[in-house]
Amino acid sequence: MVRYSEELIDDIKNSNDIVDIVSQYVTLKRSGRNFFGLCPFHKEKTPSFSVSPDKQIFHCFGCGAGGNVIHFISKIENVDFKESLEILAERAGITLPTLENSFDEKKQILKEKIYEINKEVALHYHELLYKPISKPAQEYVKKRKLDNKTLKDYYIGYAPINFNLYGFLKEKGFNDEEILASDLVIKKGNTYIDRFKNRLIFPIQDVRNRFIAFGGRVLDNSLPKYINSPENLVYSKARNLYGLNIAKNSKLEKIIIVEGYMDVISLHQRGIENVVASCGTALTEAQGRLLRKYAEKVIISYDSDSAGQAATLRGLEILNNLGCDIRILQMEGAKDPDEYVIKYGNGRFNNLVENAISLIEFKVKVLKKDLDLENVNDKVKFLNEVAKLMSTIDNKIEQEIYIDKISKDYNISREAIYAQINKLIYSKNQGQKILEKKPINKENKKEDNIPTNLLKRENMIIALLLDGKVEVYNKIKKILSPEDFKRVENKEIVQKLYEEFEKGNSNIDNILEIFNENEKIIGILTGIMAEDNEIKDDQKAIEDLVKNYKKERLLARKKEIIKILESKEKSIEETKLLEKELQNLIINLTQLK
Ligand code: GTP
Ligand code: MN
Repeated sequence: MVRYSEELIDDIKNSNDIVDIVSQYVTLKRSGRNFFGLCPFHKEKTPSFSVSPDKQIFHCFGCGAGGNVIHFISKIENVDFKESLEILAERAGITLPTLENSFDEKKQILKEKIYEINKEVALHYHELLYKPISKPAQEYVKKRKLDNKTLKDYYIGYAPINFNLYGFLKEKGFNDEEILASDLVIKKGNTYIDRFKNRLIFPIQDVRNRFIAFGGRVLDNSLPKYINSPENLVYSKARNLYGLNIAKNSKLEKIIIVEGYMDVISLHQRGIENVVASCGTALTEAQGRLLRKYAEKVIISYDSDSAGQAATLRGLEILNNLGCDIRILQMEGAKDPDEYVIKYGNGRFNNLVENAISLIEFKVKVLKKDLDLENVNDKVKFLNEVAKLMSTIDNKIEQEIYIDKISKDYNISREAIYAQINKLIYSKNQGQKILEKKPINKENKKEDNIPTNLLKRENMIIALLLDGKVEVYNKIKKILSPEDFKRVENKEIVQKLYEEFEKGNSNIDNILEIFNENEKIIGILTGIMAEDNEIKDDQKAIEDLVKNYKKERLLARKKEIIKILESKEKSIEETKLLEKELQNLIINLTQLK
């Protein structure tokens, strides 16, 4: 991790007012002391995205995203913390000193060298493809029906069996460290071996057209079919999508995601240019944000065998939570988009795109796949799962439309579905846990079944600590340890705050940066800051707060114990332990009164 000094970071923060910066991306309206607008990080119709000029933070009450001006740029530009600092430094006209830590400066130079190496190699492999030595590869691309323009657009190349990439790069003036860092050459003992041998080469470029990695395919049926560059200084799988550098030029409102290099290339060659590939890995949040910059609508067109898999569904959920409008393309008669478009043409493929189904419909379909609705047990199971799915839809009209559709498609009465939903709501009220994935805005409000009162008190205590007053800290620390906090993130936050106080750092301005790697915690912290808890520094108030917090905690635990004692089967020992705990708990409770 590259480090600029805290002073410098402060300087950059102070020179970039958060309202000014956010305004360049979001239309903000003043309301009281804060500004509000539509959140750029999830889809919404009413503004829940707030910016506080006083605290110089943003926080979205809808999706929980938050942070300071550096986090904002990092999130919206999809760059890391350091790159974000650099952007902001430039905007403010601050010249960054050469990195304090010479190691990092070296790393930066090495990165640039790897980009250079990758580019040299990509161009060279591409040129080689046209040479006699590449005869097998030429035959292969012909077999795959790739035309010359496509080969050029994607810099498709060939890595021959006998090539000395090490020698090639040495001659270009790169040194051993740089060559090995590119991961294109592997050192075994005293010899240097090319990573890619006798493979068709697909260079991977980022959105800025830099060459960041390679995929290589065998020319026959041997295994492994593909090998890819490992992650390194310039390549992060989770942050890139193959073909986006080209797709982003197509200026279409939707982007199609496919699995493989060949699918992207083949569709593109046939006029479907808004395509990117996830290259066989599950979609990540970083990729989702990247996509959202270019298109509102995302069409998933995976191979028929992988579309319904858990990893895929998780990826879709991530995109959905980011506010992308997701459609899933249904394909029959071919195993992947490449095969389909060759067999049936682009007109029919475009039809499939138009008829792609929503995530909910898709989930129902996946559910149905392993069930026989003629079988009573299966039908009950199906109904139950459908009801769970339906109860995740907030919009009543939308819910009704889906229920109508499902009732028709699967020949189940609407009443049966509604009855099941009502049953679900009833049992929910009974306090039973329902293992369903809730949309993120709900998740933020009621976390992990922690009572709201308790959560609120935890937040207030953290708000007090964030004020940075040592007397307040001393008072709280006597009564509460980080472990006492119920929400896991709060434990971590309080732990860190205590550490900072112990280090004598009562200026907690940089608390958000301490958690740079943890977006969720930053979101929670800005949530607490944005709440404006308005507590005066009154000893009595702190005592009250802490006392009540303890009480809430004990009460919550008491409820928990009673529930366990009443419900599940358990050993005598367990029961004894629980009863003992309950006794102590009641004593503690009376002492608090
Ligand atoms: P073709 O068989 O040439 O049509 O390739 P494809 O692009 O259709 O590949 P496939 O659907 O089999 O796999 C999708 C993507 O997963 C590929 O483009 C690769 O990125 C990745 N992949 C496939 N096989 C392997 C493998 O053996 N190893 C690794 N690391 N990745 C693979
Ligand atoms: Mn294929």
